Amino acid sequence: MSVHIQAKSTDISDKVIIPGDPLRAKYIAETFLEKVTLYNEVRGMLGFTGYYKGKRVSVQGTGMGLPSLSIYVNELMSEFKAKSFIRVGTCGAFQKEIELRSIILAQTASTDSNINRRIFNNLDYAPTADFNLLLKAHNHLESNGVKHYVGNILSTDTFYNSDTTESEKWVEYNILAAEMESSALYTLAAKNRCQALSILTVSDSIPNGTQTTAKERENSFSEMVEVALEII
Ligand code: HPA
Repeated sequence: MSVHIQAKSTDISDKVIIPGDPLRAKYIAETFLEKVTLYNEVRGMLGFTGYYKGKRVSVQGTGMGLPSLSIYVNELMSEFKAKSFIRVGTCGAFQKEIELRSIILAQTASTDSNINRRIFNNLDYAPTADFNLLLKAHNHLESNGVKHYVGNILSTDTFYNSDTTESEKWVEYNILAAEMESSALYTLAAKNRCQALSILTVSDSIPNGTQTTAKERENSFSEMVEVALEII
């Protein structure tokens, strides 16, 4: 048992898919897994374990933002000894040419958050995806002919940012898209010698001012989840 995940140590697989939204965790468990058990309901942050093609996998909601994800991932790593993590989430594209619904594999995650500045005493740390998971995801998408992007993303603390000029620097330095969790995930994975990757689909384009419909988000979400379940 830990503070935010009240489960037994054997309830959770060492392979965990981590969407931000707990209802997406429920959707993944109900749609893709067999022999599913619900192991956590604390604060509505649902966690399930089941089997995908015979492989035991857990799915745990993390909430939005670096602090919330850090709580769940810390507990999964230290209390439940989970080893492999794939975040499945949405992002806002920064580069004009990246189309809605594209898949982005986050090779590295820059951030405007202060969390790593505190950990590293103001030095710069480069949060990085696990190479093997990244390579597997890339190869899987390539062999299925799915166009995707691999590169640096931004994990931001502010979904609503009144300073619209701030993103210009990120665009200039080829940041592909913004989301709100991966730099914390990659940093925790490094410290705990775990593997982590974020697979993201583009739900909106910041330069083009466009966004996907709810139905499009559901379809592209399923596509991304299948990749995650295949490679974890
Ligand atoms: N910013 C941050 N997080 C996001 C966005 C965004 O534009 N779109 C989806 N997640």
